[in-house]
Amino acid sequence: MGAVPPAFAFATSAIDGRARTGLITTAHGQIRTPAFMPVGTAATVKAMYPAQVKQLGADVVLGNTYHLMLRPGAERVARLGGLHQFMNWPHPILTDSGGFQVMSLSKLRKITEKGVTFQSHIDGARYELTPERSIEIQGLLGADIQMQLDECVRMPCSREEADRAMQLSLRWAERSKAAFGALPGQGLFGIVQGADVPELRIESARKLIDIGFHGYAVGGLAVGEPQDVMLAMLDVVTPILPADRPRYLMGVGTPDDLVESVRRGVDMFDCVMPTRAGRHGLAYTRHGKVNLKNARHAEDTRPLDEASPCEASNAWSRAYLHHLVKSGEILGMMLLTWNNLAYYQELMAGMRAAIAAGRLDDFIAGTKDGWERGEA
Ligand code: GUN
Repeated sequence: MGAVPPAFAFATSAIDGRARTGLITTAHGQIRTPAFMPVGTAATVKAMYPAQVKQLGADVVLGNTYHLMLRPGAERVARLGGLHQFMNWPHPILTDSGGFQVMSLSKLRKITEKGVTFQSHIDGARYELTPERSIEIQGLLGADIQMQLDECVRMPCSREEADRAMQLSLRWAERSKAAFGALPGQGLFGIVQGADVPELRIESARKLIDIGFHGYAVGGLAVGEPQDVMLAMLDVVTPILPADRPRYLMGVGTPDDLVESVRRGVDMFDCVMPTRAGRHGLAYTRHGKVNLKNARHAEDTRPLDEASPCEASNAWSRAYLHHLVKSGEILGMMLLTWNNLAYYQELMAGMRAAIAAGRLDDFIAGTKDGWERGEA
């Protein structure tokens, strides 16, 4: 075996307003921030080869405790050498803790102080997920960045409900940290909750900082509230999070969400949007969204973006992509997923370069102009 991996670390190299660019160091390599993490729920970024994901500029992918504990099972993945080896992705992996997916996917779920019990959405089998078991699973998978178990409430919700879930998440944060047996190069992140109530968000962030984590996520956003509410919560939370730890906005978002959040000091994102939209005929480009299902593309010989370095964006006509999407062909999903992840990574690379040059605001203004102007 090789040398001992480096310690988990985060270093910023440039600051522009509240935005930062930097590097996270993990056991499986470095992550350039701000980073977009493609979602690889079931040990695959759907419709993509791992090498292709890396080639687009993604340094890290996300895996899910919930899905992998049900199928193929964390112990099995561990016997097979861990998640990196299992999926042939030798680079960093972040795993979500499972609570969020239990609440959105499983049946008959019940939350208690101890944890959450639920029925699998696959075969109805009963499971229990506690903060300790979630961390154990993430360790068996071998995730470089592990997340505390938390409870995320949908909005709108009452202040009482937001407070209860936030306090429970704080107690689970303590238990998650106690259970975390860090191997070199692995980090554990706490998750700020508190819905749309600024005082609850502040209390959650302060108490998580007291417990102490390698990084801090902001959860419970993009769950039904308008974008201005989400950004207002970031305005409250990011200024009190420690400058020397990465900040991760969970489950976000649209290209506009990404630029507005980076501007407010967020370093990491994950979202199913580019991959899921790609499987449903929607392309993200520098000129905004293109719905390939639309009949107006049926005889359009232009590619999605002839100036893009990505083959999926420059080599096939919209007419052909329209045909593939209308026919339900697998290649249509592959090409649009590829195009969308290429665009998301291009956007992140653009923001990293703009922060380093001290001109993020100009970059964002130009980017939005491109979306709004559409095509010639
Ligand atoms: N993914 C999107 N939002 C959340 C959240 O609030 N908690 C967790 N664990 N995962 C998420």
